[in-house]
Amino acid sequence: ASLYFKRSKIEHICFRDHLLDTWYSSPYPEEFSKNKILYMCEFCLKYMSSPKSFERHQMKVCGAANNHPPGVEIYRDANAKLAFWEVDGRKNIEYCQNLCLLAKLFLNSKTLYYDVEPFVFYVLTEIDEQDSSIYHFVGYFSKEKLNNSDYNVSCILTLPLYQRKGYGHLMIDFSYLLSRKEFKYGTPEKPLSDLGLVSYRNYWRIAIAHALQKLSEDIMTNANSQYYISLEIVSKMTGIKPSDVVVGLEQLEALIRNKQTYEYAIVIDKKKVNEIVDSWNSRGYYALKPELCIWKPLI
Ligand code: COA
Ligand code: NA
Repeated sequence: ASLYFKRSKIEHICFRDHLLDTWYSSPYPEEFSKNKILYMCEFCLKYMSSPKSFERHQMKVCGAANNHPPGVEIYRDANAKLAFWEVDGRKNIEYCQNLCLLAKLFLNSKTLYYDVEPFVFYVLTEIDEQDSSIYHFVGYFSKEKLNNSDYNVSCILTLPLYQRKGYGHLMIDFSYLLSRKEFKYGTPEKPLSDLGLVSYRNYWRIAIAHALQKLSEDIMTNANSQYYISLEIVSKMTGIKPSDVVVGLEQLEALIRNKQTYEYAIVIDKKKVNEIVDSWNSRGYYALKPELCIWKPLI
């Protein structure tokens, strides 16, 4: 059967008592697309057309009994009040479809909505200040389960309510942590959106500056031993695919070419690398603590 969706009229979504403007249209079923406002449950991501039905839902279903995403909590920082959840697209089809429809409201490109089963979804939540059994949806990234490719992120979203607080960076960092646990080098699926590209370029620059800082400290403390720094070594440290390491190194002006041999070398400008790391740290965003991640790859 062919599906035809009228261009959505949804201009806002009501989420956690906030009215958010949508950016693009998303193929919600027609009876919902004709609304200007969709009311969304931040726990199960169910969408409703009226405040009344939303209220009823909060009283009877979510809010009272269900205060978090489905799936498994795989990271929890009780002090910083943040948690990641792993949601299997096969086990929680409806939730994941709702998630993809929500993401499409903020993505211009075509993306999947209904065929969620081949994907795993990693959902970032803020733990409520007052009640630590309540988890507020912040954003997510999806990842293909069986991939022979090196994609470690298919789609990523920070809900506009939470953007520019370092959460995108945190989710990207988490995706590379999972890749390192799989002994893989990862890269995001292409094409990236404009916002995806600025976020990734910023991430690569900082993650690689951080790796170079560590390497230069090691060199200083072991001054007598021989050191080779290669793309491979930086990839191993970060989980970032070598071709993306190159993008990061270029931004740091850390790749130079020998004029005689035409070979490239990695140069560490310690002052510059320290400045970049310090300037990022000074923003005070939350930094991932890998030891809190209890996720293990299936072997
Ligand atoms: N303008 C300029 N720089 C930006 C930016 C923007 N809108 N968003 C991110 N950056 C850069 C900045 O350097 C930022 O640091 P700063 O805010 O201290 O200056 C850095 O990336 C980290 O940003 P962060 O706060 O971690 O990102 P985010 O939580 O806002 O999420 C996206 C980034 C891409 C996930 C978010 O913009 C989004 O959901 N966009 C819509 C969906 C999308 O396009 N997804 C990617 C393709 S699948
Ligand atoms: Na910011």
